[in-house]
Amino acid sequence: MSQHPPVPFAGTVRGAGAPAPAVPPSSAAPGPVPAAAAAPAHAADPAHAGAAVLAARGLTKTYGTTTALAGVDLTVRRGESVAIMGASGSGKTTLLHCLAGIVRPDGGDVRLATAAGDVVVSALNEAGRSRLRREQFGFVFQEGLLLPELTALENVAVALMLGGAARPAAEHAAAGWLHALGLAGMEHRRIGQLSGGQAQRVAIARAQVTGAPVTFADEPTGALDSATSAEVMDLLLGATTGTGRTLVVVTHDEGVAARCTRVVRLRDGRVVAEHAGGAR
Ligand SMILES: Nc1ncnc2c1ncn2[C@@H]1O[C@H](COP(=O)(O)OP(=O)(O)OP(=O)(O)O)[C@@H](O)[C@H]1O
Ligand SMILES: [Mg+2]
Repeated sequence: MSQHPPVPFAGTVRGAGAPAPAVPPSSAAPGPVPAAAAAPAHAADPAHAGAAVLAARGLTKTYGTTTALAGVDLTVRRGESVAIMGASGSGKTTLLHCLAGIVRPDGGDVRLATAAGDVVVSALNEAGRSRLRREQFGFVFQEGLLLPELTALENVAVALMLGGAARPAAEHAAAGWLHALGLAGMEHRRIGQLSGGQAQRVAIARAQVTGAPVTFADEPTGALDSATSAEVMDLLLGATTGTGRTLVVVTHDEGVAARCTRVVRLRDGRVVAEHAGGAR
């Protein structure tokens, strides 16, 4: 059925069962990096630098009588950091969710370039989109994605274990990322025992540990003070574009947008402006 196309991946896109843990960025403090760890070949391959990794065409989405997206075209290139801005209700989160396969658009399509070929994200069924999210994407949201009953280490390791990694290897890789993000010594704290900025570092570690080529962040600094916000953005950019990966970030903060390579502005579900950010 066209509504339920098969998942276009044989095995996983990395072709080796469990996802390979990614190496923390070299600019960060050295952590216990697993010997076998390697970023997926396509994540930082210079041959692919600047190639389109995500392309949305004619995206529309309505909720009842509310038009959230009214025809959005957007291309995101490998290694870019794209800030999506706009007033409350302009469709930013809806756009992010359509790009990331969380929500299916009513019209238009979203294509993702992977090592195994192009995937039409918007045509996948829920199981296919769930798998794509697990294997290709990392998520850093304002709140709510970390599991409060788990420790920092467990929250990060679970991202690898969901993909089939054994617990010791997953925890080893998770510890490397937590260390690299300045959380050494806090591995065994539960999320409620961390500050907001520390919890966001855990979220960044979890989004990066699988080596996902694209990270989606929705107001990742929305609950933080300006100094902590700048630190978290440094870490988020270092972990993504700093290693050749791609970041799409929804934000109300011009300071965050100024750190990105491109800014896209939405109004009433349409792109009304697009310009280079301060990082380019
Ligand atoms: N699940 C939903 N059910 C009904 N309406 C929704 C739903 N999600 C979003 N909307 C509506 O779609 C429009 C766009 O919402 P969206 O969350 O994308 O805005 P936003 O730009 O992210 O806003 P904010 O800055 O406040 O987070 C809004 O009018 C919102 O009320
Ligand atoms: Mg939103």
